[in-house]
Amino acid sequence: TQQLGARYRVEGATAAQQEAVDVLARQFLLSDERLGEIIKEFRRRMEAGLASDGTMLKMVPSYVVWRPTGEETGAYFAIDLGGTNLRVMRVTLEGNGRATLLHQKFALPEEAKTRTLFDFIAQCVETFLDDHNMRPAATDPHLSFGFTFSYPIDQTSINSGTLIHWTKGLDVPGCVGRDVVRLLEDALLRLGLRVKVAAVVSDTVSTLLSAAYSDPAAQIGVIFGTGTNAAYYEDVTSLAKWKGADPASGEMVVSMEWGAFDSHELATLPFTPHDIKLDRKSLNPREQAYEKMISGMYLGEIARNIVLWLADQRLLLDGRSSTILNAMWALDTSYLSSAAVDDSPDLSAIRQVIEKTLNVPDSTLVDRRIFKIVAILVGERAARLSAVGLVATLTKRAEMLNRPITVAIDGSMYEHYPGFDRIMAETASHFIPESQFKNIRFSLARDGSGIGAGVIAMLATQHQ
Ligand code: GLC
Repeated sequence: TQQLGARYRVEGATAAQQEAVDVLARQFLLSDERLGEIIKEFRRRMEAGLASDGTMLKMVPSYVVWRPTGEETGAYFAIDLGGTNLRVMRVTLEGNGRATLLHQKFALPEEAKTRTLFDFIAQCVETFLDDHNMRPAATDPHLSFGFTFSYPIDQTSINSGTLIHWTKGLDVPGCVGRDVVRLLEDALLRLGLRVKVAAVVSDTVSTLLSAAYSDPAAQIGVIFGTGTNAAYYEDVTSLAKWKGADPASGEMVVSMEWGAFDSHELATLPFTPHDIKLDRKSLNPREQAYEKMISGMYLGEIARNIVLWLADQRLLLDGRSSTILNAMWALDTSYLSSAAVDDSPDLSAIRQVIEKTLNVPDSTLVDRRIFKIVAILVGERAARLSAVGLVATLTKRAEMLNRPITVAIDGSMYEHYPGFDRIMAETASHFIPESQFKNIRFSLARDGSGIGAGVIAMLATQHQ
């Protein structure tokens, strides 16, 4: 059993409350030994995915076989479909590794998430082009777009790929098994827009390429946001399942779809009853197992399950709940971020969340102290587990670690959860020799998934 630090001792708690907190801490804290085992299994699954199709980690060949020099110039367009928002933009590559953005953001309405997605995207493209007076006339050439599509596809060329399944709460019928570029181009055609998709890419691939435009050491792109995934430059000789011609560069970016680690088997990750409850009630039970422990879409819900577990034993909020607190997804992950760093004497930010957002009045200071620990346990476990995928990827091509290497990272968890970046790097450092670890630079690639789609549209057009 692990020694639990003073951090998990709740001043003023009853013995029963403290005992419940200790149970949680034991479930959510992970030893290096345990993490090491998970890393080993992760590496095994990576190898399996590079060798053949249909394995747990899809290791999707992206058809991106180039690296930008940073000297390329020109204006390219991009559509960035993430988990929560859609952005349409013009990316101007200025040379010298600099890019500027003109962009418009659209929240995805419920209707788009469950029915009208591609028509909605086409309408947003139309709005963007009309608002900026850039709509091509009937005699103009087509505009080339890069399309960042942050869901798993079986890529069949640089600008085609069929949807494997939805993740992160999207559920549009009739798309699985179909080419998402065709679905989008058909919708654009219905609006009479002269727009072509030059490349379809994962957000991890575009994040990597946006960093590569200004930094030749960029090798890995990672998203810790609504969902999680990573992409890296792989040596094609290691990509045994690749049937196409070998690219001149000898390498290709592979999108791992690592959120699926431990899916269906649920045999390796540290599942607690709170994780299982979330999984069972999710849109995709037994899928995206790793993602469900790490990413922003899910962490608030895990914490909500814990809060209810405590309340049901009368160990929190005197056993009271509310209609809001009883509803799935009521606790947004951003509240965990603010709770984890609430250092005010009466924990007023947490009080606000419990009493105003969740509508449970009269919390005690002890309630709020426990709530804070819950936020910390769930968030920090995510940060530690995120190091698992990172270490497995970094050590896959260990020779890369003998010189400077940049890992480009984007996403709300990485950017906003307090200490996520620090705990992730700290944990990773336990598994990589110091002489190599010092070569690694983790860099926040804000807007990377949009800029990178522009960079890839440029590269794809150049190499047509
Ligand atoms: C989900 C998607 C994946 C994406 C990731 C990050 O895991 O399946 O394609 O890269 O979220 O947005």
